[in-house]
Amino acid sequence: MVMNTKSMNTSYRHNYHLMPSQGWMNDPNGFSLFNQEYHLFYQHYPYATEWGPMHWGHATSKDLIRWNHKAIALKPDQPYDRNGVFSGSGMTVGNEHWLYYTGHTDTHLNQLYDEHYQKKQHATPFPDEPLIRQVQCLAISKDGVNYEKFHGNPVISSEEIPEDIRLEDFRDPKVWSHEQSFYMAVGAKTIGLTGTVLFYTSKNGVNWNYLNRLELGPDYGTVWECPDLFELDGKHVLLFSPQDKVRKGNQFENVHSTMALIGEFDYNTGYFTIETEQELDQGFDFYAPQTTLTAENKRVMIAWMNMWDINYPLHAHDHGWNGSMTLPRELSITDGRMIQKPYHLIENHQRHLVEKQRFFIKEHYRNPAFYGNSQRLDIRLNMQYSSQFSISFFKGKNEKLILTLDKQHHQITLNRKQSQYPIESLVSKNDFIRSMTIDLTKPVQLSVFLDVSSIEIFINQGEHTITSLFFTKEQGNEVTFYSEGETCIEEMKKWEIM
Ligand code: FRU
Repeated sequence: MVMNTKSMNTSYRHNYHLMPSQGWMNDPNGFSLFNQEYHLFYQHYPYATEWGPMHWGHATSKDLIRWNHKAIALKPDQPYDRNGVFSGSGMTVGNEHWLYYTGHTDTHLNQLYDEHYQKKQHATPFPDEPLIRQVQCLAISKDGVNYEKFHGNPVISSEEIPEDIRLEDFRDPKVWSHEQSFYMAVGAKTIGLTGTVLFYTSKNGVNWNYLNRLELGPDYGTVWECPDLFELDGKHVLLFSPQDKVRKGNQFENVHSTMALIGEFDYNTGYFTIETEQELDQGFDFYAPQTTLTAENKRVMIAWMNMWDINYPLHAHDHGWNGSMTLPRELSITDGRMIQKPYHLIENHQRHLVEKQRFFIKEHYRNPAFYGNSQRLDIRLNMQYSSQFSISFFKGKNEKLILTLDKQHHQITLNRKQSQYPIESLVSKNDFIRSMTIDLTKPVQLSVFLDVSSIEIFINQGEHTITSLFFTKEQGNEVTFYSEGETCIEEMKKWEIM
């Protein structure tokens, strides 16, 4: 069964962000360089616009911006992954492309379609065997097109998990190599219901030994998903996506968050010493990021530009597709903080520059030259003589997405309430505002990427980012400004992105 592509509604499809050609997309997987091409796989259900038994969709790119869709790389077709090929990572090993993923089985589901299951269940030597199991598996390709599952799967079975880890929450292997050895970070949940990441090591990528774990207690969420560990600017960074992380002021306001720990990882002991921590993005729709090293040796990250437990209109209104990825972001560390910049090759896709130097905005400012819904807008401003400055995006008659810089309260907020297709959280009512604390007495720099139904905002050269989706009935494309007092615009530049 394949979805009827004629029923595809293209009104909210992006122009320069990766989306599935049809059906559902979540986490980026297997992000890696193989045979001089970038490969990005993703959690994919081709038959509906909601999550289902996971496949790995596959796309390749030369510049990380323009992607070519390939055939589905992995399907749930083995006894150990029959209910889902869950998230994981990819790397080049010799001349081969190796993908590590989580095999997911759910005996609830199996009971429904395997009439023999009941018999087997009774025969099991473990009567209290969990209904859900997650194990780590390997698939190998020689050509970057056809992927074959390893005959010895799973490479880490339920027997190789520490006793206090839930067998049903052990997933998303990120594998990398370091000095002749392989290392794996796996997301997990303890039987005490706290999130953790487990580290394994291997000489050959097939036989794995448990090394250590990192656990930070109940404030850090109930399960850690999609870990990624890498070196950056002389430090080690551990990324992960904790579900139900406890909110801290205006940080971690989403039900599920994404964070970075920066410090030192000891390869001998598997011990991670934390120096600083931060939330990765302070918008609504950013989850499960994964990184790779580019051909120019830059560390680049891509995240799923959506969030769990949210009611997106793409599914409710049957658009035929649902889910997309953020732009690739170049990472670096300054003063213990992770900085994210739009990957520089986006510049090759920017056209028709419009710019205006040094002018003042007082009350309303509108200039059709800066309108658009598929564009980059770079602004340098200072609020020495103003108290508030705001920009409305995707503006029509009754709808707009509002970014406000409030000098007195040291806050930047994004408000997505004014839409006739409000994006409702299924767990917290009336949740339409995200804010962050920032010193606005100094000059501010913004780079804003609009793409039909998404916005990515990079503040002060990537010190902070805000990512959000936005769907409107009117599909307005005005970008207008408002200032209380006089805001000095040092420079405003706009490019269309095709
Ligand atoms: C994160 C996640 C992963 C899992 C995958 C299933 O978004 O929940 O932990 O492998 O999605 O699609």
